[in-house]
Amino acid sequence: MTCFGACGCYPGKRRGSSRRGAHWRIFTLKELQAATNNFNYDNKLGEGGFGSVYWGQLWDGSQIAVKRLKVWSTKADMEFSVEVEILGRVRHKNLLCLRGYCVEGQERLIVYDYMPNLSLLSHLYGQFAAEGLLDWPKRMTIALGSGEGIAYLHHLATPRIIHRDIKASNILLDSDFEARVADFGFAKLIPDGATHVTTRVKGTLGYLAPEYAMWGKASESCDVYSFGILLLELISGKKPIEKLEHGVKRSIVEWASPLLVEGKVKEIVDPKLKGMYDEEELQRVVHVAMLCAQIAPEKRPNMVEVLEMLKGKARNVEMSSVEKDDKVQHESECAGVGDEISNEKTRPAVGDEISNGNETMQNSVN
Ligand SMILES: Nc1ncnc2c1ncn2[C@@H]1O[C@H](COP(=O)(O)OP(=O)(O)O)[C@@H](O)[C@H]1O
Ligand SMILES: [Mg+2]
Repeated sequence: MTCFGACGCYPGKRRGSSRRGAHWRIFTLKELQAATNNFNYDNKLGEGGFGSVYWGQLWDGSQIAVKRLKVWSTKADMEFSVEVEILGRVRHKNLLCLRGYCVEGQERLIVYDYMPNLSLLSHLYGQFAAEGLLDWPKRMTIALGSGEGIAYLHHLATPRIIHRDIKASNILLDSDFEARVADFGFAKLIPDGATHVTTRVKGTLGYLAPEYAMWGKASESCDVYSFGILLLELISGKKPIEKLEHGVKRSIVEWASPLLVEGKVKEIVDPKLKGMYDEEELQRVVHVAMLCAQIAPEKRPNMVEVLEMLKGKARNVEMSSVEKDDKVQHESECAGVGDEISNEKTRPAVGDEISNGNETMQNSVN
C-alpha cells in the first residue's frame, strides 16, 4: 500500500495489481488533460467544495468524469485521499464507480464513470428541473437505489462506512436514472465494535442529524437522518431548509410533520408530478422519511429496515411511533441556509474519537 502524507492511504499499486479485476488505475495528468480538452470550461459538469468536475473521453472512447482539486491544502489532500481510499474499497451498483486517480505535484484528480443524468439536485432544482423528467416511478427507483447504496456501506462493507454527506447533489443518476451515491470526501470508516465516532462536523446544513451537528457524534444513524431528509426532498421537490418571512427558517421536517399528522399527505407531493403518483408508495415513503428524520438517533431505523419498509415488506409503521414532542429543535433554528460547513472555526480542532458506547478513546484509525 502506497502512503501519502497525513492520513493518505490510497489504494496502492500492490493491492491494485495483486487483486484480479481491480477496477481502478493510476492516470497521468497528460492523459486527463487530453481527455477533458485541457479541463475546458465547456466540459464542466458541476462544482462542489473540493473543485470542479469535468466530462472527458479516454482514448478507448469511454466517457469519464474527472474531479480536479481547486487549491491544494493539507485538508483538501486529506479529503482527496479519503475519497480515493474509500471508493477504491467498495463496489456496488448504487455507488459511483472509481476509475482511478492522479497525483502529480499539487494536482489531485479523481476519475469516475460518467453519469449522464448528473445529480438528483440538477433534476429537482437545477438545469434539468424544467424538463420534468422525474416521474413517480423514477423517484421510487432513486429512493430505493440510494437506500441500497447506503445500506451496503453500513452493513456489507468491512469496516463499516458512514458517508456523512448524503444530499441531493451527491446522488448521481446514470442513463436509466438509477441512483449512484457519490462524493466520499467526508466518509469515515467505523472500526468494528465502535458505536460512533466523535469528530469534527462536516456535511451540509439541512441534512445534519442533531446529535452530529451539536456534538459531532457520527454514526450510521446520521446517514439515516440525512436519507430521511433526502426522501422528503425527493417526493416534495422542496429544499431541506426554506426561508420564510422575517428571516425565519423552516426545515422540511417541520413543514411536513403537521401535514402528516393532519392526514394531508397529498399536500407533501411535488406539484410537478401533477397528481401522478402511487398513493400507497407515497404513504410508505413519507412514513419512512419521518422515522429516519427523528431527533433521537436510537429511534431511527437502520438502512436494512428502511429498505424493507420502502419496499412494503415490513409492517408499515404508524405515525404514533414517530416523535411528536420534539424537545430539540431541528437545524433550521440555528443554521444558515444551504451552506457547506466544516465546523473547524467554531469547534476546537480535536482529534477524532471513537466510542464503544461506554468509553471514549483517541482515534488512531482513520
Ligand atoms: N461521475 C459524474 N458524472 C456526472 N456528473 C458528476 C460526476 N461526479 C460529479 N458530478 C457533478 O459534479 C458535482 C460535484 O461533484 P462532487 O463529487 O459532489 O464534488 P465535491 O466533492 O466538490 O462536492 C455533482 O453534484 C455533479 O453535478
Ligand atoms: Mg458534493
